Amino acid sequence: MTNEFFPDLRTVRLDEPGGAVVILDQTRLPGEETYVELRTPEQIWEAIRELKVRGAPAIGVTAAYGIYVCCRRAGGSCFDDLCETFDRTAAYLASSRPTAVNLSAALERMRNCLLAHRDEPAAGIWDRLRDEAEAIRREDATACRQIGEYGLSLLEPGAGILTHCNAGHLATSEYGTALAPLYLGQERGYGFRVYADETRPLLQGARLTSYELMRAGIDVTLICDNMASLVMSEGRVQAVLVGCDRIAANGDAANKIGTSGVAVLARHYGIPFYVLGPTSTIDADCPTGASIPIEQRDPAEVTEAHYAQRMAPRNVKVYNPAFDVTPCDLITAIVTERGIARPPFDDALRAWSLPGRAGR
Ligand code: MRU
Repeated sequence: MTNEFFPDLRTVRLDEPGGAVVILDQTRLPGEETYVELRTPEQIWEAIRELKVRGAPAIGVTAAYGIYVCCRRAGGSCFDDLCETFDRTAAYLASSRPTAVNLSAALERMRNCLLAHRDEPAAGIWDRLRDEAEAIRREDATACRQIGEYGLSLLEPGAGILTHCNAGHLATSEYGTALAPLYLGQERGYGFRVYADETRPLLQGARLTSYELMRAGIDVTLICDNMASLVMSEGRVQAVLVGCDRIAANGDAANKIGTSGVAVLARHYGIPFYVLGPTSTIDADCPTGASIPIEQRDPAEVTEAHYAQRMAPRNVKVYNPAFDVTPCDLITAIVTERGIARPPFDDALRAWSLPGRAGR
């Protein structure tokens, strides 16, 4: 599959001869398109933690490539030693960001692959791990495309769409999740008008969503997060599309901080609020959103990041949760590569959650 909008831009890839994971450094966008090679567990952990690579599916793919690269570098031919290296590295990488389930799910899938091939020589195991990581990336790309098709079926040509954070190409392997219907709509002449929330404090909407949509020639208008109510009240928005980092069994969905506020506004103005994500984002082990771990981040992201100078008094107390949970009753539909689920979500999500995920 090729993505006509981004033939030259790969968010994450494996540099096989170099034994490195290569990522597009998203902290440098939109100013610079800089690629970084990651070879050690520490480099991979730091790249995920610092959001050089970000977005739930993209960090899952990075972790899958990363565990392969790290275990291969560690070498050795004894399976028990390999397993020990794998488990230690996987636990370390999984600790980089807690909310997106794709990270731990990808590592778990890689571990299952390792165990399934325990009787093969080391060279064969490396090949299997690499193939599994490539399969995770490929399946993500296929899922995004399918999410785009289902998502597009919910939208009218010419619609105004509001989105929060970045759930597009940069956050995934190809078309994105929440932005996938917009790319397919662009291919088919739908003429969408997109409003991108800037997404304080790390500005994924301003830096990334507006950058990638403009690059694809899609009509995008950047707004501050606190303008969404006005823009909706003016009748400019016919649907809200957002991604997700983890979907609980009842349909509560964690996504970038501020998403639940957008859902409240959408309900107030009678605008459909759609959550789009791959089924790998469903966590049947979380009965409701209350069980989803919410990442807390450095206060400096609120007081200093992206300002020319500090914009808050020294020592002010700061609360900086990176995600919030949108309650399922504010969600009009959840769109996955398997279809469109409407409330109550439980049955569809149970059927779609990955085999073996529940009760692990
Ligand atoms: O902190 P980030 O930038 O990794 O947060 C990303 C989001 O909240 C995305 O909406 C989510 O991961 C879905 S990406 C397809």
